[in-house]
Amino acid sequence: MDLYRTAVRPLLFSTLKADPERLHRRSLALLGWLDETRDRPPAQWVLSELERRLSFRDPRLEQQLWRLHFPNPLGLAAGFDKDGVAAGVWSRMGFGFAELGTVTYHPQAGNPRPRLFRLPQDEAALNRMGFNNQGSLSLRERLQRNPGRSHPLGINLGKSKVTPLEEAAADYLGSFQRLRDWGDYFVVNVSSPNTPGLRSLQDKAQLSTILEALQGENQGRKPLLVKISPDLEWGAIADVVDLARTYQLAGIIATNTTIRREGLNARTVAATGNPVAEEAGGISGKPLRDRSTAVIRFIHQQTQGQLPIVGVGGIFTADDAWEKIAAGASVVQVYTGWIYEGPLLVRRILAGLVRKLEERGLHSITDAIGSEQP
Ligand SMILES: Cc1cc2nc3c(=O)[nH]c(=O)nc-3n(C[C@H](O)[C@H](O)[C@H](O)COP(=O)(O)O)c2cc1C
Repeated sequence: MDLYRTAVRPLLFSTLKADPERLHRRSLALLGWLDETRDRPPAQWVLSELERRLSFRDPRLEQQLWRLHFPNPLGLAAGFDKDGVAAGVWSRMGFGFAELGTVTYHPQAGNPRPRLFRLPQDEAALNRMGFNNQGSLSLRERLQRNPGRSHPLGINLGKSKVTPLEEAAADYLGSFQRLRDWGDYFVVNVSSPNTPGLRSLQDKAQLSTILEALQGENQGRKPLLVKISPDLEWGAIADVVDLARTYQLAGIIATNTTIRREGLNARTVAATGNPVAEEAGGISGKPLRDRSTAVIRFIHQQTQGQLPIVGVGGIFTADDAWEKIAAGASVVQVYTGWIYEGPLLVRRILAGLVRKLEERGLHSITDAIGSEQP
């Protein structure tokens, strides 16, 4: 029986109406404590118990990507562990990789609270966190203190709010220089709706300046990806694909949250009483699912499957994950689905993916990538 879905979630979401950000902070603090004390009891015991219950291994799910070994294709999306406080526990929770950040060059508090809301009628979340994080120096120190991870770790970089848009490249570069030895892959996040003007950096000229600076420094050593918004027009996505070729990016992450509000069941945000349309922020979860899959399919077609895609947006089930992989994603990530479905979600999805492989007579997850293009 899944205790999270039958007891924990109703208690937290409905009975106690727990504030989502506080709940997130507390859960992360607990996981951070487990991580810091992982070699001693009781954390040692708790972690091995979690691993036993939550993880799912099957050689058919393993994959070499960017010369990294992914034990399975399901990762934790950026934004959950911005400061890397639990960097060492995500593999124990069953994830095949985890993306830390978004981290910025300067530490920053983010937007005023409340800034994270659940929309249960839509199995969605609305957030306008605004890159609250302790900064790239602090992340480096934490990763230095607590090294040793068994799966790939991505680091997602954003622009500090105090840095003018014209100086964005130097801001991203500064964080990359601090962190390059500590991440297995790096993501240029130009798609959060919650930093003023950030998404304008997806524009070809502005993005070129950032990628030029980063690849100049990186020289292709670490895989570098760009994370895009689901709200870009097809032409703008094609421009990013062109840049990916020019700057030899390792891939594209599709997608971040959407600022669109169409098709939601929720009229108002319960916590504020305001209409959803009037609350600033990005929507994640189910309402994002089909658009992000369409973006993945488009990129896969544009690149003839030559550019790896990380698929993210609205994954709640193995079917959802499969759809993104079959549309062209090499690996996928979850955030909102994990909140709604709980920690057993990872195992359920991975077991479901293996069943899908068997049903289709495929030998490995890599055979499934882009296998259902129209
Ligand atoms: C509360 C919250 C905070 C997020 N913070 C970040 C972030 O800092 N950087 C980022 O690239 N994406 C961030 N995201 C976006 C997720 O990484 C993901 O792209 C998006 O939520 C879609 O996936 P999902 O539907 O599985 O949540 C955040 C999402 C949520 C819900």
